[in-house]
Amino acid sequence: MSETEVELDGERQSLVLLRAGDSLRAWLNICPHAGRRLDWAPGKFLVDQGRLVCAAHGASFELGAGVCVAGPCRGASLTAVAVAVDAA
Ligand code: FES
Repeated sequence: MSETEVELDGERQSLVLLRAGDSLRAWLNICPHAGRRLDWAPGKFLVDQGRLVCAAHGASFELGAGVCVAGPCRGASLTAVAVAVDAA
């Protein structure tokens, strides 16, 4: 799991990147609970039992669809961002 910054719709945004084999997933680095960053320091994420844990208040997200499965925003989802791996 890593973090990168990109320009989206004219704004600088931090993304959470998760690569597994040839697949790459990305979400905005914004927690649906209170809008805080998910990492505790830039690019430093808490992962517990395969779930991403928000550093602010402990919401826990499964890493398939990015749904919160425990914590203060249970049932809410991270915002997915379409990305692709360029083999060039
Ligand atoms: S901002 Fe993430 S759990 Fe509160």
